[in-house]
Amino acid sequence: MSDSIESQSHETRHFAPTAEFAAAALAKPEIYERAKSDRLGFWAEQAKHLHWHKPFTKTLDWSEAPVAKWFEDGELNVSYNCLDRHVIAGNGDRIAIHFEGEPGDSKSYTYAELTAEVKRAANVLTSLGIERGDRVAIYLPMIAEAVISMLAVARIGAVHSVIFGGFSADSLATRIQDAQAKLVITADGGYRKGKASALKPAVDEALKDNNCPTIENVLVVKRTGDEVVWTPKDIWWSDAMANAEAEHEAKAFPAENPLFILYTSGTTGKPKGILHTSGGYLTQAAYTHRNVFDLRPETDIYWCTADVGWITGHTYVAYGPLANGATQVIYEGTPDAPHPGRWWEVIEKYKVTLLYTAPTAIRSFMKLGREIPDKFDLSSLRVLGSVGEPINPEAWMWYREVIGGNRAPIVDTWWQTETGAIMISPLPGITDTKPGSAQVPLPGIVAKVVGEDGVELGNEQGGYLTIAEPWPSMLRGIWGDPERFKETYWERFDGQYFAGDGAKKDHDGDIWLLGRVDDVMNVSGHRLSTAEIESALVSHPWVAEAAVVGASDALTGQAVVAFVILRLDQVEAAGSDSDVSRVLRDHVAKEIGPIAKPRQIMVVAELPKTRSGKIMRRLLRDVAEDRPIGDVTTLADTTVMNIISGKIAAGAND
Ligand code: WTA
Repeated sequence: MSDSIESQSHETRHFAPTAEFAAAALAKPEIYERAKSDRLGFWAEQAKHLHWHKPFTKTLDWSEAPVAKWFEDGELNVSYNCLDRHVIAGNGDRIAIHFEGEPGDSKSYTYAELTAEVKRAANVLTSLGIERGDRVAIYLPMIAEAVISMLAVARIGAVHSVIFGGFSADSLATRIQDAQAKLVITADGGYRKGKASALKPAVDEALKDNNCPTIENVLVVKRTGDEVVWTPKDIWWSDAMANAEAEHEAKAFPAENPLFILYTSGTTGKPKGILHTSGGYLTQAAYTHRNVFDLRPETDIYWCTADVGWITGHTYVAYGPLANGATQVIYEGTPDAPHPGRWWEVIEKYKVTLLYTAPTAIRSFMKLGREIPDKFDLSSLRVLGSVGEPINPEAWMWYREVIGGNRAPIVDTWWQTETGAIMISPLPGITDTKPGSAQVPLPGIVAKVVGEDGVELGNEQGGYLTIAEPWPSMLRGIWGDPERFKETYWERFDGQYFAGDGAKKDHDGDIWLLGRVDDVMNVSGHRLSTAEIESALVSHPWVAEAAVVGASDALTGQAVVAFVILRLDQVEAAGSDSDVSRVLRDHVAKEIGPIAKPRQIMVVAELPKTRSGKIMRRLLRDVAEDRPIGDVTTLADTTVMNIISGKIAAGAND
């Protein structure tokens, strides 16, 4: 994918906002000047959009870099900012969440109702012994209770760790153990792909044999009504809520109080617990959500299709929209259930004005044809967002024409779990947008494209993306591993944050993201690590060695392709290559989750290695993408690639 993007960085098409949009837009061109002339003053102004129980006097303390402290002496309550203050301001009757279940059930919560739910939930947590600083694991489908749980944890100053419902019991257990969580909030199940899909059994599996001894209780939301196995730690959410006090006063916590940990894939086998804190995170979440989507809380209906299990669901489902008092849609299910027009039906039903989704989804709709969206009234849409992976210009144009009626500006937003909020993006009333480019750092953000030596490059030169100045929603560390935090992000380019992405500026100075330059893959906008999947593969008794690459894929951006060497004494037991492939794909799904299943597994006799024993993934990627094999001169044994490609060409693998 990066090759095609590189050739497209001479893109000349651009689309100015309409005069009407530009005139009415919240952000005016002066915002860039303002932020540039006094960056910290600018961020302090943004922070003042929040309610501070105790106002801050210091904006940034960078003396312990790279651990930043923003608004350090200020105190606030994140949940109060997302709920109570809107009610107090007289907006209690505004809808906060329109929940749309996959089977078609729906429920709307006003700000007053959502506040009441969160207050009760906060009392439930306290009654279960959860205190400030304790970790709570949340393993839920995309239902309103996911957001309610997050806000309740935040309200009492505890720390949530949301684990995507698609992760396996093993992944759940590792994350619970790493964070030493005291409580899990889960559900019997949720609806996906037209049927009820159980969730509770994975929690039971993760906790069995005292595997997660820190867990004291499991709160279970009833969603599907399917039978569940009950253990002594389990409590029904509805019972606990019914017994809880209704009133709850939100206490103030320091701005740097930890808010959440979110695990993400890195270059090594073990996922990293990215730590975010309160005041700076919420400031940038609210600021970006307001300006990038040109949000009018009184009239807009916003819909972000991300699951709360990912950072996009944290910042642009839970925190940004609610801090801004927006009305949003939350949809539980898959885009094509019960019919392929489901998303467009949701937009028509709620008259969604601001849509935020991922390129993979756009590409899969594109493949189904415009006849499907054309059947629905999408004329309410006024801003379209894209996130998670590079969007190819073809998909961008389709999004603009077919979904946005050639009218709604597209904001291609670059950011990461680590950055906490959007960093690079057009502003819809200001920027002339360009298909495929995220374009410009937001006001307040200093991003650079640098060469190997960390020195900024000129236009039309490819290099690495770095962030040169601290920003409010930056990660404060990796849970339990301060050294890894420094090494991973701050050592490659001294004093600059290294994002792990390749980038280039085009002839206009607009930034194009060129994909990851490390061993992180991006499959359908989800981050996966080659090392993590490799270690899942070698944990199977048949496998002696494994190498995983991300091969470009027209639909999912990248796809996981694995090369495995079987143990000699297991070859017979393993059977045919297609049996091996099936068994190992299931094994990866069990170890990590179905999202990590390799598209293809190739059984090989050798792997290409350098003389120092490092696997040359570049060559394997050539095989996986069906390209001529590149330079093999650094291989320890140059015949290996002939053997591998010979076997592939002979069709010996599935
Ligand atoms: C990629 C998701 C190109 C990038 C918010 C980054 C993008 C990784 C874009 C972070 C974009 C995200 N254009 N690439 N607009 N947005 N990425 O942590 O490689 O799940 O490093 O955060 O996704 O993925 P994460």
